[in-house]
Amino acid sequence: MRYGYFDDQRREYVITRPDTPLPWINYLGSEAYFGLISNTGGGYSFYRDARLRRLTRYRYNNVPSDCGGRYIYVRDDDSGKFWSPSWQPTRHQLEDYICRHGLGYTVICSTCRGIEARTRYFVPLGDSLEIWQLTLTNRREESANLSVFSSIEFCLWDAQDDATNFQRNFNVGEVEVPPCGNGVPPLSPPRYHGGEVEGGVIYHKTEYRERRDHFAFFACSESLAGFDTQRDVFLGPYRGWDTPAAVERGQSFNSVAHGWAPMGSHHVKVTLQPGETRQIIFLLGYHENPRDQKFDPPGSQTINKRTVKPIIAKYLDQDNVDAAFEALRAYWDGLLATLQVETPDVHTNRMVNVWNAYQNMITFNLSRSASFFESGIGRGMGFRDSNQDLLGFVHTVPERARERILDLAATQLETGGAYHQYQPLTKRGNNEIGSGFNDDPLWLILSVAAYLKETGDWSILEEPVAYDNQPGTETPLYEHLQRSLRYTLDRLGPHGLPLIGRADWNDCLNLNTFSDTPGESFQRAAIQREGKVAESVFIAGLFVLAAKEMAQISRSANQQISESMSQRIWDPQFYGEAAQRMEAIILEHGWDGEWFLRAYDAFGHKVGSHECEEGQVFIEPQGFCVMAGLGLDDGRAEKALAAVKERLATPHGIILQQPAYSRYYLHLGEITSYPPGYKENAGIFCHTNPWIMIAEVLVGHGDQAHDYYLRINPSAREAISEVHRCEPYVYAQMIAGRDAPTHGEAKNSWLTGTAAWNYVAITQWILGIRPTYTGLQIAPVIPGNWPGFEASRIFRGVTYHISVERAGEGNVVSLTVDGQPIEGNIVPLPPAGQTEVVVKAILT
Ligand code: BGC
Ligand code: NOJ
Repeated sequence: MRYGYFDDQRREYVITRPDTPLPWINYLGSEAYFGLISNTGGGYSFYRDARLRRLTRYRYNNVPSDCGGRYIYVRDDDSGKFWSPSWQPTRHQLEDYICRHGLGYTVICSTCRGIEARTRYFVPLGDSLEIWQLTLTNRREESANLSVFSSIEFCLWDAQDDATNFQRNFNVGEVEVPPCGNGVPPLSPPRYHGGEVEGGVIYHKTEYRERRDHFAFFACSESLAGFDTQRDVFLGPYRGWDTPAAVERGQSFNSVAHGWAPMGSHHVKVTLQPGETRQIIFLLGYHENPRDQKFDPPGSQTINKRTVKPIIAKYLDQDNVDAAFEALRAYWDGLLATLQVETPDVHTNRMVNVWNAYQNMITFNLSRSASFFESGIGRGMGFRDSNQDLLGFVHTVPERARERILDLAATQLETGGAYHQYQPLTKRGNNEIGSGFNDDPLWLILSVAAYLKETGDWSILEEPVAYDNQPGTETPLYEHLQRSLRYTLDRLGPHGLPLIGRADWNDCLNLNTFSDTPGESFQRAAIQREGKVAESVFIAGLFVLAAKEMAQISRSANQQISESMSQRIWDPQFYGEAAQRMEAIILEHGWDGEWFLRAYDAFGHKVGSHECEEGQVFIEPQGFCVMAGLGLDDGRAEKALAAVKERLATPHGIILQQPAYSRYYLHLGEITSYPPGYKENAGIFCHTNPWIMIAEVLVGHGDQAHDYYLRINPSAREAISEVHRCEPYVYAQMIAGRDAPTHGEAKNSWLTGTAAWNYVAITQWILGIRPTYTGLQIAPVIPGNWPGFEASRIFRGVTYHISVERAGEGNVVSLTVDGQPIEGNIVPLPPAGQTEVVVKAILT
């Protein structure tokens, strides 16, 4: 069952009924100001940090669900009936309703009682505010006298404190509603010509009197009939957002908040003739003042508004708003132009061309902080997560990827280890969580390799970067990579495999922290038995892949970088040999006969072996060992993949491990804390599925790879939205496995490494358009029944027009470049000045 459809032309998902199985959301903002918005107007906004600079309040796990957001009420003043055009919070029947989620904007459009309301929400590039552009049209035969009320609930900035510290917070709330003498409301129309704006603006300034230099503003383009800023006055005692007293009676109370819960609501009266249309603009924004110029006049307690007024004035002008919207569209078109494909499969096309690329950018901006499953107050930026996310956007915003790499590397420790997380505002490692997730540092090598292949910017390796952000400890980035590898080599276990530490990629496989205390973090619990026995075959595979990348990097780097730098470069042979040694160890101690073993626990017992009662076969080492090249020439890769197909694959995707753990095992950790079929305990953990797709490509199975790709492709699952339940336009972290009663149901949509890895699997491996150090490689391994496909890829400033044609059943590629046949499958960079290249690939 569907709840909407893809509008591929406009790059929108169109939701046609408001009661989706879960809130289906979108993100506003792409730089500093962000908001989450559901298909019924729910969600919240923040400036840079979802915990520390929360602008509006949101109650997670609320009843009814997703209540709280950017709500508008329309009231028919003749009959007294009122409704919300976004359905929530009044949930009145609407005559028609659609929500269009686009790239960085959402439009909710509905008609009720003959009044059409269309609200476009977006954040303009370059400014820290969101715009709600409301267009009202009277579709009745007679004129309509309407009242429009806006509403938002301010958060007192620190979302964690806001939700817990009521003894203080109920006393600190302050607003300004200028000019605000003696509680007498300002009803003057806003004048915003010539950069001046008066009236109509509600300022939220809790804690501005003391240590904060920032405030929020909520502006309206029309002259006001009233306003409210005290939540409980606006709503009335014991009422909810579905029946605010002010809306019901048709007149604001002009309340000024003193303590309690500050909110913002404008009241605008509109009379519309039949067919007449009116536009009202609301702005919600964030602004900072220099500390010594906070007040105006100086010494007063009144916010200095001189710096913010021009910004408000700019966006209360409809033409400026329209221009800002066009600029936003152009921005996204520009980003997506880097890679566009036209294949015989619609699900591949729309995910690659639009939604998967879009989701990659959202994970770049937000890591794992704020979604409808991540509350914005928990995790910071993951070291492992951010390095992997980078694989999905490095081609889209290479300069920002460079900055991200340097930020990440600066949190690395001198041992080569890494803080598991760092804070986005301070860019410092997070001490609370600490380090000891032994896979973490290796991911830095993968992200840097991806950056180098994409950009050819070797200078990044020479960039001085500190350790743990300590000035004076800087070394070239290249040395950080060396230390990452060294970190693994310094921590090998009894079989010569890497020690797992607190966990590896699978945060829930905690082989050293035996936690039996409720509420304690499974990962942070004390390490038992010294942690010197439990080993990870997954890290071993990751190490081999990383060491091979390092061999390539150092080989090329020796030619590319300065002499002083090359003194520091180890012989590429070193890395090659390190990889080989580890491969041999994996084959000896990490092979279970039919598949790769997962780990050895703290007692030296196998995990992920046919000898185990439960958890016999895990997906992660099958994917990573094959990706690292293991077993490609001796049949083990094929065997491991056959085991995956037989034991782990379901129509809804590939399960993480089988058989599911039926009880809690102290020595295995959090993985066994989940009921069977969920999350790491035999859920379909979508992040890992593309590793198998890539592995299938490496053994030449295009059909199987693409089949797995479609099983979790959100668009391909759209038709079963009642089962999948999450948004059909973005990946979710998990789909319940076959041991769960809800098999096929997705959770944790949006912020997941699934986005980047699926993008890599489909674009670089199945479609085979792969950046390399020396040029763009074209090596498709596509389904047998595809006649071919077309693509355009901007790579190092050159546009490649690629067409692939199938002339036989295999995966052998013959290339012609600008009409000339070339050797091999790597298209070399054209001579300087040439900006377009035509590539034809014949598959036989
Ligand atoms: C989840 C993991 C996640 C971890 C973060 C666990 O509860 O199952 O997926 O990585 O928390 O600490
Ligand atoms: C989610 C975490 O963000 C990621 O780092 C981890 O690899 C997976 N969970 C698997 O546990």
